Amino acid sequence: MHHTTSPHAALAPAPSWLSEAVLYQIYPQSFADSDGDGIGDLAGITAHLDHLSWLGVNTVWLNPCFASPFRDGGYDVSDYFSIAPRYGTDDDLATLVDAARRRGIRILLDLVAGHTSDRHAWFQHALHDPDDHRYIWTDGSGPVPEGFAPSPGPRPGAYLPNFFVSQPALNFGYTRSNADEPWRQPVDAEGPRANRAALREIMDHWLRLGLSGFRVDMASSLVKDDPGHVETTALWQELRRWLDGAHPEAVLLSEWGDPAVSVPAGFHGDFFLQFGGPDNGLPMRSLWSNGGGTVDTAWEPQDCWFHADGKGTPDTFVRAWQNAEAALHGTGHVVLPTSNHDFSRLATEPRSRAELPAAFAFQLTWPTLPALYYGEEIGMRYVPGLPDHEGSRLGPQYNRAGSRTPMQWDDTANAGFSTAPAEDLYLPLDPDHDRPTVAAQRDDPDSLLHLVRRLIALRRTTPELGPTGSVRILNTGYPLVHLRGGRYLVVVNPRREPVTMPLPCTVPPGAVPRPLETSGVTVTDSTLSAEGFGFGIHDLGAPGTPA
Ligand code: NOJ
Repeated sequence: MHHTTSPHAALAPAPSWLSEAVLYQIYPQSFADSDGDGIGDLAGITAHLDHLSWLGVNTVWLNPCFASPFRDGGYDVSDYFSIAPRYGTDDDLATLVDAARRRGIRILLDLVAGHTSDRHAWFQHALHDPDDHRYIWTDGSGPVPEGFAPSPGPRPGAYLPNFFVSQPALNFGYTRSNADEPWRQPVDAEGPRANRAALREIMDHWLRLGLSGFRVDMASSLVKDDPGHVETTALWQELRRWLDGAHPEAVLLSEWGDPAVSVPAGFHGDFFLQFGGPDNGLPMRSLWSNGGGTVDTAWEPQDCWFHADGKGTPDTFVRAWQNAEAALHGTGHVVLPTSNHDFSRLATEPRSRAELPAAFAFQLTWPTLPALYYGEEIGMRYVPGLPDHEGSRLGPQYNRAGSRTPMQWDDTANAGFSTAPAEDLYLPLDPDHDRPTVAAQRDDPDSLLHLVRRLIALRRTTPELGPTGSVRILNTGYPLVHLRGGRYLVVVNPRREPVTMPLPCTVPPGAVPRPLETSGVTVTDSTLSAEGFGFGIHDLGAPGTPA
């Protein structure tokens, strides 16, 4: 394999734009429908870019928009080089990328690296050719091994799915061989090499068209039986070294959930997730998961910090973040979403909308990279009770459809999402007659939307609130009090109960704490009080000293 750089060269530093990123995730089928077929599309996104630039986000990531039979919302790609007709054309993507760039917004696509659709031409070929090793196949001489699915075609044997049965795992090899399992090929066998080369080609194709990088689906899943992710790391490092040379401004953000492992493996950033990674996603769930919305039966019930009852703690999250930071020392980023297309939105019962502002105050002032999921900025809710749609349902209490309902733009038909008849929409709109909309919140300076916009602007104009500013925790629990960059005092009280306490730091003599963005929080030179669900960001004017 041709390397332009040595496989042992250090990874280049992340492009500097990434540390200023405020990410916004768009589920393309649910954002804006421009052609009236009931499904969102790329031209719809282009038509609403002014909303994103007004909001102040500068990096958008799109869930997969490639050709697909949509058994898993598009995470079952049948052609990585074509845009799914439901979303438009290559030209529509080029138009979107251009129009976004003019507004200072970068666009990332979603690279589904670990599997394809069973409709992909590669799999269709593999079904007919027992010598094709793009996927992981038994030879059919024994019973179907656990975790495998019987061949649906003329080829004898069984193949290994990566997620749903319709998503056969691409063969990137196994770290360990086993004489009883002849399908375990080494990572440098022909099939795995072809797949690695294909990932490079796919990335190159889209990056040349002006895309700025990828969110990488199931990035840790590539090499099988890989203790410590040693070979998966080697694989991503190889791709990253190529990227550093060929597309030095592009970024890769992994769906991995363990930045301490994924960033050294070559990713510029990694999403904290509600599953996987250290403590199996507990740090994220300990912030947001209130028992409503998407619940995996394997999760132990636990109290989350953002809960009116106030039984949770920020410590689980903070510890996980500190551990990740210690491992990264500035080489990459932790990305912090409030929700995404797989998990409950912030506005999930029993959490009320009054509780959301404090959550954004926390997310947008913490030194992680914030990722907003479309509609979070107006407090769209998780809609319970929807049917399974395009593989949304993962368990008895786990239907992702509730987090994927159409964006609520205004109070015209279908909330301005689409001109199609309501029954043709990708998913039904939130039927709540009080559902929030962008238009109504734009008209109300006290709305969540305006608050999120101001918090984003504050973060973007105050480098100390970004990933490079220091963070010092002065009080944990309710409220969490921390100092950013030595002088910005952040107070977040996610519970119903108010609190008054001595100020946990000394304000420099003569300085008067200046409120930058507060709701229900008062700070004097000696005390701090926070109403229920209150938050406050104050400028101490000069570095404060922990009490
Ligand atoms: C993670 C994606 O976020 C999810 O939506 C998808 O179903 C699985 N990976 C499989 O690709």
